Amino acid sequence: MNESRKIWRSVVEGVGAALPERRVTNADLEKMVDTSDDWIVQRTGIRERRLAGPGETTSVLATKAAEKALAAAGRTAADIDLIVLATSTPDFTFPSSATQVQAALGVTRGAAFDLQAVCSGFVYAMTVADKFLASGSHERALVIGAETFSRILDWEDRTTCVLFGDGAGAVVLARAQGQGAISDRGVLTTHLRSDGRHREKLFVDGGPSTTGTVGKLRMSGKEVFRHAVGMVTDVMTDAFAATGTTAEDLDWFVPHQANERIIDASAEKLGIAKSKIVKTVHMHGNTSAASIPLALATACEDGRIKQGDLVMLEAMGGGFTWGSVLIRW
Ligand code: ACO
Repeated sequence: MNESRKIWRSVVEGVGAALPERRVTNADLEKMVDTSDDWIVQRTGIRERRLAGPGETTSVLATKAAEKALAAAGRTAADIDLIVLATSTPDFTFPSSATQVQAALGVTRGAAFDLQAVCSGFVYAMTVADKFLASGSHERALVIGAETFSRILDWEDRTTCVLFGDGAGAVVLARAQGQGAISDRGVLTTHLRSDGRHREKLFVDGGPSTTGTVGKLRMSGKEVFRHAVGMVTDVMTDAFAATGTTAEDLDWFVPHQANERIIDASAEKLGIAKSKIVKTVHMHGNTSAASIPLALATACEDGRIKQGDLVMLEAMGGGFTWGSVLIRW
């Protein structure tokens, strides 16, 4: 084979997840705010979520997920030279949660940093890590999505507090040589977008440089819903066009788990069969940047996602930000 035709691909070697101990059902929430299991299930598909206790910080959950991903990949901390951690709920304003994870794992080389793109954080982090690996500068990355959104919820606002949960997921992504074909294992194409004009529709009303406080999440749910399906189907269409693939070629569709209605409407618009959708929103709620790797871990552990499968990831979130990642597993 002609050496010049070889390219670097970022291959997923292992996936892991971690959830807080405390399980909170819709019935539990009925005791806290004026809501009902019926309302939450019909509007969102969510039945329960996990909420972090005092010791379960974002970096603690992220470290557990990373350890499981390393074990699944058959790797150790010494094999890692890049950590990209997507979160909007870091342990501290600084240092980054990624460096906390780095220390907890005993990784002593390479770079570690946080990335903030709210619910799109994991597709942004996968894209950034893929570009580091594809450039040849780094060899093996931990890409993590980890959140403790319960810490930034207004627990008196029933329109938002019922929607979110806490958790973390991680993948080990390793540089491997490909031919540039869609049969190559690894990340095949990535598409990121953002549009800051939508800030007011989903934001946190505090921060270090404005209020000096952490703030609480605020959302116009209807407005987010109105934009979500069009945005995520746009970037998936871009992924199909870039690779010459179609919805029929997909083995698995692993969307951001915000709301079952957004997931189903997006799949239907692109003609993705219901049987190919991986859904975990009923168990986890919306865990923001953690939702995709949590869903990936679920579908890998139960044997659905297998080596060679074509897997589409997509997400949309605050900013707005949105994006897709198409992977040959
Ligand atoms: N329990 C009971 N009733 C409620 C609750 C609740 N938890 N929350 C709101 N209501 C009431 C409202 O007060 C309203 O009552 P009213 O008609 O008497 O005024 C009624 O339910 C309908 O409220 P809407 O906001 O119109 O409800 P809608 O059908 O739009 O559903 C929802 C709300 C679920 C938030 C929906 O808009 C949605 O899914 N939006 C997408 C938002 C999302 O998923 N965000 C996640 C973050 S972004 C991302 O990850 C993509």
